[in-house]
Amino acid sequence: MAWLKFDPQTGGGQYLEDLATACWLSDALFTALDAGLFEFLDRHPSAAPADISAALPLDEQCQERFLQLLRALHLVDCYEGRWYNTALADTYLVQGRPLYQGGSIAWRRQLKADWATLPEVLAAGTRTHFPSADTPEADMAARRLDYLRAMDAVIRLKLPDILPLLGDAVPTDRPLRILDVGAGSGGFSRALLEKYPRARATLMDIGPILPHTRQLVSQWPEEMAARVDYLDQNILETPWPVAGDWDLIVLSNIVHAYGEEETAAVLAGACRCLAPQGLMLLHDFFTDHWETKSRLSDINMLVNTYNGRAYASTWVRQKLAQNGLASTGLVPLPSDTALVFASADSAVLDALALDSRRQIIPLIRELGFDGVTSLDPRKVVLGAFAKNKCAYGCDYSGTKPCHANRELPVAAARETLEGYRTALLLQGEPPTGDFQRRCLQAEATAFKHGFYKAFVFWAGPCSICPHCDPDKPCANPKHNRPSMEGAGMDVFATAAAAGESLRPLKAKGEVVKYFGLLLLE
Ligand SMILES: C[S@@+](CC[C@H](N)C(=O)[O-])C[C@H]1O[C@@H](n2cnc3c(N)ncnc32)[C@H](O)[C@@H]1O
Repeated sequence: MAWLKFDPQTGGGQYLEDLATACWLSDALFTALDAGLFEFLDRHPSAAPADISAALPLDEQCQERFLQLLRALHLVDCYEGRWYNTALADTYLVQGRPLYQGGSIAWRRQLKADWATLPEVLAAGTRTHFPSADTPEADMAARRLDYLRAMDAVIRLKLPDILPLLGDAVPTDRPLRILDVGAGSGGFSRALLEKYPRARATLMDIGPILPHTRQLVSQWPEEMAARVDYLDQNILETPWPVAGDWDLIVLSNIVHAYGEEETAAVLAGACRCLAPQGLMLLHDFFTDHWETKSRLSDINMLVNTYNGRAYASTWVRQKLAQNGLASTGLVPLPSDTALVFASADSAVLDALALDSRRQIIPLIRELGFDGVTSLDPRKVVLGAFAKNKCAYGCDYSGTKPCHANRELPVAAARETLEGYRTALLLQGEPPTGDFQRRCLQAEATAFKHGFYKAFVFWAGPCSICPHCDPDKPCANPKHNRPSMEGAGMDVFATAAAAGESLRPLKAKGEVVKYFGLLLLE
């Protein structure tokens, strides 16, 4: 059962129920963390229920039910009545582990108070909840440190996906100068200093944050901490007092912090500091990547910042272009954030190690598909029955709109699939002609992005030309393609292999889903 994923064919009621109870999930996680359950199970693996309730504030009767819920959420497991942490909990939820996320999860919980003001904020058009003016400085300082630790835990998760993308775009044959704008914990720079032993990083942030940054950096290996400089600078006050010519400028989780005017000025300030062959790396949540999460982050900015917001990567790229920088398209990470790289020298961008398949997914989604999912072509299921359904179960059987299917026997479809290493499953809806035109646009987009073998299988009989004379040869073969089902693909099983769902319709008026397959190489 997929959670929080709307499937129009299975009805919206369950989806709404899941939306309404989504906070139960986080409450269960918060409670288990607060109780110290994961640390206890780390110290006492294979704990008996009586040991758990004796050590933790968990009533013996209720505990079993709570543990069963956590088990369903993959956080703990049970063998012969004894409980232990799953690998997930062991990696992320036990204090002291390198990827411990307890701090960032606790930070998310603190945001609940801001989210409770959403109705007021929407009515007022601005943030309404602020830290109390008489909060003691010591409490504010502790809060700032918690914040930096939380951000540090989050960025640590992403860096293993980010660093390999740098490829050969950053020079290693000479000292490298890194400017980390709004550096926070400095965690991003730490990973760069580790990767590039000849680099030196300047961590730029506001005065009240930098003492905490220094405190965290002092816990790094001495050799790396020695390659750090600090700059107390409000990024909204440009130009920044740093000489230009930085080799690598990082803006990680900064673009969303302010409104359009301020962010445009920050980007312009950063562009002025970049060396002619320098590289700018922007990491953030963008509205053209992981839409639900970026929209939630956008509202999160609305309720707890002055005017922060989520941006489309296209907006950011436009601002960079206005400042003379070329940029990559959106480079999505496997998680909820994405990257844009920019440079005045396009050869620098060419030296990045980007997975172009991941980059074209947002572009193809923008064509108007309901879903675009990566699929290994070896998972496409072929079955002779699909051809039978076309030949014997369709009004268009043997007619001109299906001639492309007739020319492609199942064996040829299999051979075609064997020539590709990647594919995208494209999901859409009627009208058939619109869906097919989108499929052709997707194929063309992929081709223009270097996938010279791009080939699409669409859905249904050809409906491309508004006026098709059934008695004359096809006047538009350039825009004709076989359908998945017509080529002998089991669309139901293939959709399932990609994690999507499709079921036979029972009645007229039910939601129709179309699937196409874009082969890429
Ligand atoms: C969300 S954190 C990101 C930290 C880090 N770059 C990362 O990705 O983990 C935003 C950082 O920007 C800093 N920041 C926000 N507004 C700023 C400003 N006007 N001047 C300087 N730094 C600022 C904050 O203090 C904070 O450290």
